[in-house]
Amino acid sequence: MKRFLMCEPNFFEVCYVINPWMEGNLGKVNSELAQRQWKNLHGIVSGLASVSLIEPVAGLPDMVFTANAGLVKNKEVIVSSFRHTERQPEAKYFESFFSSLGYRVRHLKEQTIFEGAGDALLDSQGRLWFGSGIRSVSHALDEIVEVFDVEACGLELTDPHWYHLDTAFCPLPQGRAIAYKKAFAEKSVAALDHAFGEDIIWVSDEDAENFACNAISIGRNAILHRASAELKSALEQRGLEVIEADVSEFLKAGGACKCLTLEI
Ligand code: ARG
Repeated sequence: MKRFLMCEPNFFEVCYVINPWMEGNLGKVNSELAQRQWKNLHGIVSGLASVSLIEPVAGLPDMVFTANAGLVKNKEVIVSSFRHTERQPEAKYFESFFSSLGYRVRHLKEQTIFEGAGDALLDSQGRLWFGSGIRSVSHALDEIVEVFDVEACGLELTDPHWYHLDTAFCPLPQGRAIAYKKAFAEKSVAALDHAFGEDIIWVSDEDAENFACNAISIGRNAILHRASAELKSALEQRGLEVIEADVSEFLKAGGACKCLTLEI
């Protein structure tokens, strides 16, 4: 059974701007609705996997996005080193959480910006896909490969709206994936096409803007904020079941379902 880490949105709000989605949303989060949406997502994930919780911390509103805690492989974790000062204090809380669970905690070099599973995603073949250019730096990948002995492929993100790889790419079971072309440099689109061939579904602008690529993949289920009829049928034809979980309040901070979880 898969296991995920989540963090209750007790202190979630938009009170600074570090990505384009947050612009115009300062102070606009409906906290009660955010709580309900998070509980609904938590219920869905708990029904399919086990969920651990980290205690939320006042003053760290983005801590709900546990995907950015680090990159986990077996019982080891490379903890993140956030680009923005607003999120940097989260790292120590995530680090002590992992230590308390007996994970071996690893770090990249001191100056290496790395935002965890927001930018580093393992596919069903055990290959690591790494997105850089907006948040994580590209040379973080060399350091990750030194720590975790994995086959890896770097992708270049070019549009600040798709600032983390998990906003525009999601590996699915059986060598499949969904992704959004406009998030990537041309050579990265070519790399994805080459690696996945027929098995990659390129999503529309509308699906991308509804954070459809920010999906949690558990067995045959893909849990996401919203998908068009077209995307649903493309996924269903491939034997996947789409579960929609409305996380509109979290979209105001630039995150959706997958960002709110970390597979541990
Ligand atoms: N406001 C957060 C940030 O800009 C959202 C993080 C979303 N996380 C993710 N894995 N895409 O850092």
